[in-house]
Formats: sequence, C-alpha cells, structure tokens
Amino acid sequence: MSRVLVLSSSIRKPSNSEALCQSLARGVRDAGGEAVVLRIGDMNIGPCRGCDYCRTHGNVCSVKDDMELVHKEMCMADALVLATPVYFWNVSSQLKAVWDRTFALHPYEKLKRIKKSALLTTAGVHREHTLDAVVAGYKGYIWCIGGYCDRIESVGIICIDRVRDPSDIADHPGLREAYELGRKIVS
Ligand SMILES: Cc1cc2nc3c(=O)[nH]c(=O)nc-3n(C[C@H](O)[C@H](O)[C@H](O)COP(=O)(O)O)c2cc1C
Repeated sequence: MSRVLVLSSSIRKPSNSEALCQSLARGVRDAGGEAVVLRIGDMNIGPCRGCDYCRTHGNVCSVKDDMELVHKEMCMADALVLATPVYFWNVSSQLKAVWDRTFALHPYEKLKRIKKSALLTTAGVHREHTLDAVVAGYKGYIWCIGGYCDRIESVGIICIDRVRDPSDIADHPGLREAYELGRKIVS
C-alpha cells in the first residue's frame, strides 16, 4: 500500500491549506492508499542550527524536538505532499524549518522510498509572481532530497489564490482538484 505523508504547515484553525490537505488525504484513502497528515504547525520544531553535527553522527540531528517524528515518517513515505499558506510571497516559517531540518538526512539515501511529491498552497490575493518563490522553493527542495537530481516526480502543484479568510475555501473547486491529486499520487 502506498503511504503518503502530508505536511500541513498552517497554524491557524480552520485553515485553507489544511482543507486542501484533508481533501487530498480523502482522495488517497479512496484510491486505496494510506495518508498520514502531520500538522507541523502544531509541533515543536526549531530551526536548523547549521552545526553539522548530523554530518558526523549518522544523520542524527543535535536538536531534540518533534522533527525526529517527521524524519521517521519521511523515511517511511512513498510520496510527500507539502502544504503552506503564502506568507510574504514565500512559504510559512514552519515549513521552512522542516525543509532546513531535513538537512540532517543528507545525502538523503534514507528518503529513497519517496517517489512522488506535490505542493498545496493558498494565498489571499491574486498578483503576478506571488507564488514564484513558493514554487521555486518546493522544486528546489524536492530536487535536493531526491539526491540532487529529478528522481522524485512532482505530480501536481495546486496554487489557490483569492482565499484570505478560512471560510473562503468552502466549495472552492480547488478542493476537488486536491481530492483528484490524492487519487493520482497513489496510482
Ligand atoms: C503573515 C501573513 C503573510 C501573508 N502574506 C501573503 C502574501 O504575501 N500574499 C498573499 O496573497 N497572501 C498572504 N497572506 C494571506 C494568506 O496566504 C491566506 O490567507 C492563506 O489562504 C492562508 O492559508 P491558511 O488558512 O492555510 O493559513 C498572508 C497572511 C499572513 C498571516
């Protein structure tokens, strides 16, 4: 069975990007896969200290917090979905912390089960280039953890703008799109 790890990074409740995560997870389960949704915004995950301890201690991070669980789940995942609200034209600080702390697993052989990925993001307004940094960051991260090549296939990027308040996502066609992406990612 395909195991899909969804990292949902918004702290607010309810949340537009979390709603996309839940739709995607339903799609995964309906297609026979297993969806694990981690609300990383609720977890205690500090920033990378850049201490390089992990480089000489077998991929063990010197920071002891909830990132240990995220590392463990990442090593067991067949697919990885990243979800973030757009904050000042970029990803949330919670997601960025997880990205940086993934460095402990360098050169990422322990992530070799991950074959597919996707991005879910929500923004309050529509402006040209608002999402550029988010998408570029996602692509760069996936390229890195794929072993510095295009080994991990990105099967979908869902960017929903003009959703500012948590109620704005209700009945949005993006929810259906996320559901279909969930089905696709396990196929
Ligand atoms: C600190 C902060 C920064 C934001 N920056 C942007 C931005 O640069 N562009 C934008 O379109 N929306 C911005 N927004 C709006 C959110 O992206 C939008 O409300 C989004 O749907 C929130 O997703 P969530 O409900 O999953 O947290 C910002 C919101 C906050 C709180």
